Amino acid sequence: MAPVMTIDGPSGAGKGTLCQLLAEKLGWHLLDSGAIYRVLALAALHHDVELDSEAALVPLAANLDVQFQVDGEQVKVVLEGEDVSRTIRTEEAGNAASKIAAFPRVREALLRRQRAFRQAPGLIADGRDMGTVVFPEAEVKIFLDASAEERAQRRYKQLQDKGFDVNFERLLTEIRERDDRDRNRAVAPLKPAEDALVVDSTSMTIDEVLVTVLAYAEQ
Ligand code: CDP
Repeated sequence: MAPVMTIDGPSGAGKGTLCQLLAEKLGWHLLDSGAIYRVLALAALHHDVELDSEAALVPLAANLDVQFQVDGEQVKVVLEGEDVSRTIRTEEAGNAASKIAAFPRVREALLRRQRAFRQAPGLIADGRDMGTVVFPEAEVKIFLDASAEERAQRRYKQLQDKGFDVNFERLLTEIRERDDRDRNRAVAPLKPAEDALVVDSTSMTIDEVLVTVLAYAEQ
């Protein structure tokens, strides 16, 4: 089996950037599991499936027609033939994703799809439960954290750079609500795996985080 490095943590901790850098540096595949939950939320909206109906969401998850097309350094996310790379990044999609992600049978329906990303020469898996549920046998597990204020600040900058209209206070409230939901749900709650290295990136640059993680992985 190809090796896996799991990077879990709350919203805005810098997992996305870190995982992209790790995948480039090692030449490994990348699984952005959050994007799958975001795409599913979007598919539910497209098909008028209620976000609180687990029974209706499960078949949608099992048959989700999504493709991740690598296009240079970017990954294009295609849902039912439509490029949704930008739409899935809104906070609305993130919030909807976090709501449907609380359903055990929805998570179950997405397991095989996520595990299929594990291919040679290796996989960097980005998410909330990569080290605890999806790849519990992973060789290297990282839990990347940061204060809620710092994460809201980073997310604010990131969304502004992408041209989205954002409000800091609202973003901070939403991050706290999402943290709460992700940490307190009954299934696959957000928490470090017992054998994960916890990295608090509040006052670290992304390069410092990268160096720390690579040094740990090489041990
Ligand atoms: O970009 P951000 O970290 O804010 O979110 P994301 O990784 O794109 O994930 C969106 C939502 O999907 C999260 O708030 C989680 O509720 C859910 N999710 C999950 O439950 N399990 C995963 N492995 C990945 C995401």
